[in-house]
Amino acid sequence: MKDLILMMLSKADDYISGEEISQKLNVTRTAVWKNIKKLREEGYTINSATNKGYKLVDSPNLLNMQQIKSELKTNWLGQELIVMQETGSTNQEVKALAANGAQRGLVVATELQSKGKGRLGRTWISPKGKDLCFSILLKPQIDMSEIGIVTLCGALAVCRVIREHLGLDAKIKWPNDVIIGSRKLCGILTEMAADMEQIEYVVSGIGINVNNTDFAEDIAHKATSLCIESGKEIDRAKLLCRVLEAIEKIIDTYYENGETALLAEYRLLCATIGREVSFTRSGKSYVGYASDITSTGSLVVDCSGNKTEISSGEVTVQGIY
Ligand code: BTN
Repeated sequence: MKDLILMMLSKADDYISGEEISQKLNVTRTAVWKNIKKLREEGYTINSATNKGYKLVDSPNLLNMQQIKSELKTNWLGQELIVMQETGSTNQEVKALAANGAQRGLVVATELQSKGKGRLGRTWISPKGKDLCFSILLKPQIDMSEIGIVTLCGALAVCRVIREHLGLDAKIKWPNDVIIGSRKLCGILTEMAADMEQIEYVVSGIGINVNNTDFAEDIAHKATSLCIESGKEIDRAKLLCRVLEAIEKIIDTYYENGETALLAEYRLLCATIGREVSFTRSGKSYVGYASDITSTGSLVVDCSGNKTEISSGEVTVQGIY
């Protein structure tokens, strides 16, 4: 009931009377008052005035599910949405639900992720309520060889949203880190379940540094956040909605028209292309010049005239982190 009252308050431009709320929700005035009290305890500023009722004046920067649902303009992504106060890893949550038959489009977001997983066995550390940690469930009807493209969609969506909605010069470090300048803003961990050559499901877990103002010592020199870059606090719920809308649009376009348009945009935003990179293959280190992204999402590296295609793993880019 608390969430429904919050939704009514957030949709109203002015005061709503306790009487109106109690009638619309078919509950007593005392129940309304108790839930208003709970919302205030959670950090919502709700003014009350005699003969006028209640008015929402300010909201804490929380991932409120009803608020997200009323704001989200997607057809299939996030229509099933779970917001958790705390979990180990949203990727783990989505994988468990996928194993139990969850449909494509499921999104799990959390305020606090205690065992966040990064790429290549690393950990992802998230301070409570400051960043955005969520995972999405996809069931792409594509050949295994095309999976590289799907993994690029998340980074492209995040990068596009940050550029369009916040006006920041976000770029992509191949395959799916989003950076500003030489610092990391967002990481994406894509995991997949497949049966022979058939993809069962893909879980894409996205971590964006949003309102973080300080970082652990070991990453402080290479991390940044949207708040640091823009100088203002960002509404995490709204950001989640915009990113989900962008991912849905990119994936729908990919299914309808193929990869050409998304790759063209990705190449334009990819900070790795045109730089010297180093990578390791079969225990041997190589240095080369990143020149392109292939139609399956691999990075093309020119090593003294020999073109090598890298589809996974870590590539160190000179000048970035
Ligand atoms: C990386 O850059 O190494 C990838 C980091 C991915 C972190 C996100 S946060 C939400 C989701 N849940 C996880 O456990 N990891 C991803």
